Amino acid sequence: MFITIEGPDGGGKTTQMNMLVPALEERGLDIVRTREPGGTDIGDQIRSVIMNMKNKSMDPRAEILLFCASRAQLVSELIRPSLSAGKIVLCDRYADSTMAYQGYGHGLDRTVLKNLLEFTTDGLKPDLTILLDISAEAGLRRRITNHDEWNRMDDYALQFHERVRNGYLEMAAAEPNRFVIINADRPKEAVHEDIINRLESLMKM
Ligand code: TYD
Repeated sequence: MFITIEGPDGGGKTTQMNMLVPALEERGLDIVRTREPGGTDIGDQIRSVIMNMKNKSMDPRAEILLFCASRAQLVSELIRPSLSAGKIVLCDRYADSTMAYQGYGHGLDRTVLKNLLEFTTDGLKPDLTILLDISAEAGLRRRITNHDEWNRMDDYALQFHERVRNGYLEMAAAEPNRFVIINADRPKEAVHEDIINRLESLMKM
């Protein structure tokens, strides 16, 4: 089973992944945890180019292709082999991030992106996508107070993040069977409990 976790910046994906992985392992599930961009040696090298503050002049097309290059490597090197071995793959961001950030956020042609993403992933779609939903304002406020990993990607306007959020909600509405929407603007324990309850009923754990 292939599960992705998605959402705007500041929704607490990493915190929730840290809580979710041991909770699923306690239930006897064999979990492979990974993230985007990165997740493989080659992917991590690509990630450092994408995140480097020195690369402010990066063209949006170049940026998309780097995200996709990292993802193609991740699919072939880790995700597909793990799924074939019967494991549950839990991935922090995947193709929906490109559609949300580059498509809805930056306004790049979504039909072109859809084809590019199909090529990148070799047609591999998640079985389930957990969307940690948070408003752009609340998400950014969290990131600023956390101060943890401020990167080049955070340096965008509030409106951009609002478009990203609305893009996610639109995608979720179009595929209600794949997406589970979780209100992430709550204490982390409440969000975690919500995710576990939803997964329990969906996966019959
Ligand atoms: P990361 O440090 O992983 O942030 P987060 O913890 O919020 O996931 O940085 C990833 C950034 O890259 C984030 O702002 C979203 C962005 N991104 C895209 O714009 N397109 C993509 O395809 C992916 C995977 C990420």
